[in-house]
Amino acid sequence: MFDAGSHPHGSLADQDGLDARNRTMSAELQEEDLSFDRSLRPKFLKDYLGQEKVKESLAIMIEAAQARGEAPDHILFSGPPGLGKTTLAAVVANELGANIKTTSGPAIERTGDLAAILTNLEAGDVLFIDEIHRMNRMVEEVLYPALEDFALDIVVGKGPAARSIRLDLPRFTLIGATTRTGLLTGPLRDRFGIAFRLQYYTPEELASIVRRSASILDVQIADDGALEIARRSRGTPRLANRLLKRVRDWAQVRGDGVIDEDVAAQALSFFEVDSLGLDAMDNRILEMLAVQFGGRPVGLTTLASALSEEPDTLEDVYEPFLMQQGLMIRTPKGRQATARTYEHLGIVAPEGL
Ligand SMILES: Nc1ncnc2c1ncn2[C@@H]1O[C@H](COP(=O)(O)OP(=O)(O)O)[C@@H](O)[C@H]1O
Ligand SMILES: [Mg+2]
Repeated sequence: MFDAGSHPHGSLADQDGLDARNRTMSAELQEEDLSFDRSLRPKFLKDYLGQEKVKESLAIMIEAAQARGEAPDHILFSGPPGLGKTTLAAVVANELGANIKTTSGPAIERTGDLAAILTNLEAGDVLFIDEIHRMNRMVEEVLYPALEDFALDIVVGKGPAARSIRLDLPRFTLIGATTRTGLLTGPLRDRFGIAFRLQYYTPEELASIVRRSASILDVQIADDGALEIARRSRGTPRLANRLLKRVRDWAQVRGDGVIDEDVAAQALSFFEVDSLGLDAMDNRILEMLAVQFGGRPVGLTTLASALSEEPDTLEDVYEPFLMQQGLMIRTPKGRQATARTYEHLGIVAPEGL
């Protein structure tokens, strides 16, 4: 349940099925999660924990741009959901003392929508486009001159009388976020001055995030309790915060409210988060690869349909972490279980693996 947001088609949706009452409940849950996310979101670089290299480069960019009195280059953040792309966009704007206007690729349906957004920008503003790989091509083409020349080409009139006029735009900074840079078109990618790929967090980094969140939420947590939550959070701050919330509830009802290693471990087992932080869906994927497909390579679409999951979700949300953990590999022939997959599932691997 805690991962409803980061797993858009995850176990929560499956359990809910067609039950309308539960569907409403899950919508409420997601909304609650959203405001919860916001309350824990760091506002400045100093509160943004981990991603040291990214932060250092950003700090330099920001300081240099400010010294010149200019808007910095356009910035692209990529990485799996929940690693802090949206948070970082807002942090950059705050550090610049700039206004941030937020939209997303799929929300900009027509070129006119984008033109309206662009003409409303003021000098130095940050424009944040989330899921920028999902922008449609026509819209994207309007964006090119805006990014390169801070100009907007609009067509006035119709038919033979139609002509194109060029409007000047204020200098702004675009921050784009995407789950995979590979999904961006070449021309769009080229227009970003700098691109950062966010990495999964180490358990120690996540433990500091958990401790920070606990102090904001006024929850008592021991260092080993924070580390236990961190270890089971799939390297993902959003998940770490969600697990903290679940463990807090459990500690309040079943314990004395204080979270130590034992309490965290018991609570997380109760919520079926295993020792690696894998949830029911992750484990279904592994079982599918190891048992149903017997360790043989399987194509993404075949695997997705066997799991009743969207191929994109599988690829963006689940696979990166499983691969990082060595629990599956991608070969030219398809996805495959590894020796570690069998070890994790506690079953004997077929010969030759
Ligand atoms: N580096 C970080 N330090 C502290 N908290 C973070 C960090 N990155 C993310 N978070 C937390 O995780 C949540 C999800 O981050 P978000 O920026 O929405 O991820 P993304 O946009 O990559 O999906 C945020 O609400 C924030 O509380
Ligand atoms: Mg985001």
